[in-house]
Amino acid sequence: MPSQFNFFIFLMCGIVGYIGGRDAYPFLINGLKRLEYRGYDSAGIALLNNTLNVYKKAGKVSELEEFVADKDIHGTVGIGHTRWATHGEPNDRNAHPHISQDGTLAIIHNGIIENYASIKEALITKGHTFSSDTDTEVLIHFIEDIRDNAKVELEEAVRLALNEVVGAYAIAIISKNHPNLLIAARKGSPLVVGVGNDGAYFIASDATPIIEYTRNVIYLEDREIAVIQDQKLVIKNINDNKVKKNPYIEKLNLSIESIEKGGFENFMLKEIYEQPRSILDSMRGRINTKNGTFQMSGLREYEHKFINAKRIIIVACGTSWHAGLVAEYLFEDFARIPVEVEYASEFRYRNPVVGEDDIVIAISQSGETADTLAAIELAKSKGAMIFGICNVVGSSIPRMTHAGAYTHAGPEIGVASTKAFTAQVTVLTLIALHIAQLRGKIADKDLRRFFGELETIPSKVEKALLSNDLIIKIAEHFKDAQNFLYLGRGYCFPVALEGALKLKEISYIHAEGYPAAEMKHGPIALIDENMPVVVIATEGANYEKVVSNIQEVKARKGRIIAIVSEGDVKIKAMAEYVIEIPHTEDCMVPLLATIPLQLLSYHIAIMRGCNVDQPRNLAKSVTVE
Ligand code: M6R
Repeated sequence: MPSQFNFFIFLMCGIVGYIGGRDAYPFLINGLKRLEYRGYDSAGIALLNNTLNVYKKAGKVSELEEFVADKDIHGTVGIGHTRWATHGEPNDRNAHPHISQDGTLAIIHNGIIENYASIKEALITKGHTFSSDTDTEVLIHFIEDIRDNAKVELEEAVRLALNEVVGAYAIAIISKNHPNLLIAARKGSPLVVGVGNDGAYFIASDATPIIEYTRNVIYLEDREIAVIQDQKLVIKNINDNKVKKNPYIEKLNLSIESIEKGGFENFMLKEIYEQPRSILDSMRGRINTKNGTFQMSGLREYEHKFINAKRIIIVACGTSWHAGLVAEYLFEDFARIPVEVEYASEFRYRNPVVGEDDIVIAISQSGETADTLAAIELAKSKGAMIFGICNVVGSSIPRMTHAGAYTHAGPEIGVASTKAFTAQVTVLTLIALHIAQLRGKIADKDLRRFFGELETIPSKVEKALLSNDLIIKIAEHFKDAQNFLYLGRGYCFPVALEGALKLKEISYIHAEGYPAAEMKHGPIALIDENMPVVVIATEGANYEKVVSNIQEVKARKGRIIAIVSEGDVKIKAMAEYVIEIPHTEDCMVPLLATIPLQLLSYHIAIMRGCNVDQPRNLAKSVTVE
């Protein structure tokens, strides 16, 4: 039984589908807008209305919307897709949906078909011609070929084809010859089926397009195919064709407000400002400062494993990897367990030494990052216990891991991860402290002090957000810089990496994060009067050392922007700008110091005219390797 984190029950493209008694178009277009964070280089829809109408366009969903304004958009069965290109450049031709050779079938696909080239070659010898460069078009031709040559029903042809393909997919197919049929299937890429109360069914990559229509959803498991025909849904296993009896219908408790901008100009800013609440939510019900107790249902059953663990290996990508780096410091500092932090993409392709005494912690906002999922599979096959830290309820990680904890940060829509990071770090701090207690490595009074301090973090984040006006000034000053360097030591080194990543991904300014002392082993050569250097220089064990690093930068005319603890005078005298954050424990500085760095990248990106929610070339969750 998959863990689903024991207490309750997200790449590339976004897909939606509708079959019911009303026009599908409004659901499809609004759904695609909700899913646009997953990919936005082209979009398309297919609608059945006696004939199969397919409309697709390179660019944003809004461009598709304009394109179809004078077209026939009627039809009670339809599918839609917003794309992040894997095979083929983003243009009209490669946009989904794709159609079969005979023009009767339309498909949308999120994922990647790895063996598409050999299938395509075989189909070409049979006379198939292709009008795109995509793996998806190959898949629908393959299904058509099986249907016609094996003389089987469409459903069976889909199933047989899926048994032949290698890779990941969430697909939806409609057919001109079957006006009451929609087929969907998944392996490796997420898919949710919404069950309407008027006989209608909705499908989507995540639940956000569905909640306005129904709160009853079924998360398809890997290798399941959903056949929706004549107001009936049947779910079967792709391998053995067995029907799933009584599929579990979950009640969504997402609020619509949580997936809308709520008065903010964009999701990223909203999510930055949500952090006092999201950090609180990630701790809610988990700690009791008064008596120093902690509970996390997902952890209970595996506490003994943590107590006896010889080693913790953390696998993650991007920002989640940075949270993992903070966790390395936390677990070693407090619980005294050796920790290795691995890029999931590297871990999965080397031959790592992992065994039954190891605990692997997989961290992911989306719960769908392909490399992280593959790293989990590998570690599992070597006998390690896998603990997931994930934000999206119902995603793959909670299903694949032995146990885990949700971060409860709420939906994160902006591509740049903000509130998910601070929630991950909060949860990891809680766990590290708890395990330290279980291993007898921390005194009760210290534990209570740390738990008490954690409880003050939401209000301290609120205070940190008050630097926004100052940060706007700093952004104005440095928005045209070509490069940035971010420096930090100890707990602040991962913060430097995260600050640099945030700036790169949304403003397209080159930025490097470095351990402050490591700077003199190379990057110092880059420093001149044009180089802004952001230094996280808060009070604590490394303060004096970082002061020396600032002097080294200053001696080379570097421009210092320092994040300091409230009331700092020494660095104020040395830096061009200082941004103050409230005092806290060393180990909790990442939760506060990250906030001004998020705001700095945000304002610089906005001043440079960048789309912060949908930066170029990126997708919210990377479900292909
Ligand atoms: O969903 P995940 O946390 O697994 O995603 C990992 C990275 O793709 C993600 O953190 C990415 O680096 C963000 N865009 C950073 O803001």
